[in-house]
Order: sequence, then structure tokens, then C-alpha cells
Amino acid sequence: MNRRALLFGMAATPGLAAMGFGRPARGAMTASLSTAATEKGRYFGTAVRIDQIEANPRLRQAVLNDCGFLTPEIHMKWNALQPARDQWTPGPADGLVRFAQANNLRVRGHALLWHKSTPQWAEAEIARERDWSTVGRYIEAVAGRYRDHVEEWDVVNEPIDADGSTDGLRDNVFMRSYGSSYIARALEAARAAAPKARLAINDYSFEYDNSTEQVRRTAFLKLLEKLKAAGTPLDSVGLQAHLDLSKGPLKPGILKPFLAEIAGMGLDIAITELDVNEHDRRLSLRERDARVADEVRRYLDIVLDEPKVKGVTTWGLSDEHSWLQAAGARGAALNRGLPYDAVLEPKPMHRAIHASLLA
Ligand code: XIL
Repeated sequence: MNRRALLFGMAATPGLAAMGFGRPARGAMTASLSTAATEKGRYFGTAVRIDQIEANPRLRQAVLNDCGFLTPEIHMKWNALQPARDQWTPGPADGLVRFAQANNLRVRGHALLWHKSTPQWAEAEIARERDWSTVGRYIEAVAGRYRDHVEEWDVVNEPIDADGSTDGLRDNVFMRSYGSSYIARALEAARAAAPKARLAINDYSFEYDNSTEQVRRTAFLKLLEKLKAAGTPLDSVGLQAHLDLSKGPLKPGILKPFLAEIAGMGLDIAITELDVNEHDRRLSLRERDARVADEVRRYLDIVLDEPKVKGVTTWGLSDEHSWLQAAGARGAALNRGLPYDAVLEPKPMHRAIHASLLA
């Protein structure tokens, strides 16, 4: 029986687990994405919340079946870890790390600095005092706490803004208070606190052929070049890869040179938040799932051609938990941009990832 024939719905056979085919939600068999990735020297992972894993045995099973790496979807963001200056709430992040350890999974830390998850008290303090110690203390505490558990950190998340006035850098509280050096300083602080962790900058909207994304790609490469030239501790680049069916075809001629430039700087690349925004939900579920799977296959076939791409992480496993869902959406109104549907049945996107990882 060839590998492809083993995908989905074949009778479970003892012993296959040893070959990497775990048992997913409903007793049907789903090929392990992690096993496929590992076979090619890569990893597969997903973003998770420990409360969702604990509440949903099927999710837990899918995570264990498919993942070698976990990213905390929210638990390691600043507003989750330190909602007030004198209030630390590391419980969920610690819980996720314990779950990972207990199951032999690795952890990507996400994210030390992000304009959207900086708690209000910290933003106010940074804006008022312009003193690096607010950020420095935070990075030291968090990167230090998880120094033996987080293998790779998104140190700065989303620093690029195509409308930004300064070199395509986002006009956030860090820029306003410290200037563009905040990025290098954050990387240095993370290196000091967690010397073994690999350090990354993570950002979005680099995939498609349009003028905004072209500006973003150029600004990003320029930032990376500057950091490397200055000897800043930067090991890796995170490409979020929130794909979008309304944005036109993915083009190898756009993506490949972009990846090659990053690789040429000696940086590793991680696909960190893969999912697909469908937009148009009028077609049949079958057609919608086929479109999503095709987009993912096309994207991964292009990016996995680059040896520096070390792993793929999806931003969740089940449509039920996707950040792309509109509030209250149910049934066919749900966006179907993750490998499993809302009841944890694998979809064609799962098969597409598996095939691309092995291609
Ligand atoms: C999102 C989470 O999925 C949501 O649950 C949360 O409310 C907001 O953040 N880019 C990122 C992620 O880097 O951290 C975001 O995650 C999605 C976009």
C-alpha cells in the first residue's frame, strides 16, 4: 500500500502508528503532518491554546497526531502575561509548555513585542518615560523564564507597515519612543536572556503580486539587511502566510526571489501562521475546500523548494478556533481555511500540506 493510499479513511491497522500514522478524532486514520515534515528534515506545528486542548479531546488528539511544534496563540503575548504592571499571569503559558514537554513537542515563542498585544499600562509607560527599561525588564523576565523551553522566539512581530513613514517601519509606540533601534535592542535583550533560543522577526503580507505587498517585501528585506550588517542577533524570519483567495494567483516569480534573498543573508525561514481566508463562501463546501487546498498546495510547493524553510505552522488546526471567524459564525458561514473542520474531521487542506511536505 503506498503512502497516498493510507491517507484518510483507510482501516486502522496496529503497527501503523509506529510508521507515523496516528489515530485522529473519529477512529479514521489521518497521516501525521509532523511525520511527513520530519522525513524531509523539517517540522510541522500549529498555534494552540491550552484551554482549548484541555476542553476538546479531539483537538488534543489532532495536535498529538500532527504536530512536532506548538506556538501559543495568545498565552505568551505581553497583555496575556502581564495585564497590569504588578500582575503576572503565566499560568496558561506555563501550562502549554508543560503539555509540550510531556508530549515531546517543541515550542515557538510568540511574541515578545507586538503593537497589538502591548498592554495599555506598558504603552502608557513607554510613551511617557521613553525609558528602555520597561521593555528590557519585560524581555528579560519572559525570555528568561522560558529560556530552556522556547526554541525560537518571535522577538518582534509585525514591524513592517507599507504606509509607515520611516523606511517602511510601523509607526508604533516602540518606534515613537525609541526610534528604529528598538528592533535591534529587543533582539539583543532576547539573546542575553535566552542565549540558546533562535531569534526571529515575524511579519505578514509578503505572498501576493500587488503594490502594497511589493512595498512590504522591499521594506522587510531592507530591515533584515540592516540588522545583519550591524551584527544584530537574528537567526530566523517568520513569514505568517495568511493566504487570501481574493488576492489573485500566487506567483513563483515573486515568492522565490524573495525567499532566496532572505536565505542569502544566512537566515532560516519559518512559515508561522499559515491559513486561508476564503472571502467568498457561496460555493459548495466541496468546491470551497478544494480551492483552499489548492492555494495551500501551490504556496507550500513554492516555499518548500527553498531549503532554508525549516518548518510550517498553521494558525490553528480546526476551523472552529480560527481567528478568521466572524463573531457568531456557524456551519457554512465558517471560514474553512485550516486543516480540520469544526468537528475535527480532516479536510483536503490537510492532504495538501501532507503532500507538499513530502514532495
Ligand atoms: C491573533 C489570535 O489568533 C487571536 O486569538 C487574538 O485575539 C489576536 O491575535 N498575526 C499574529 C497573531 O501574529 O498573533 C495573531 O493572532 C493573528 C495575526
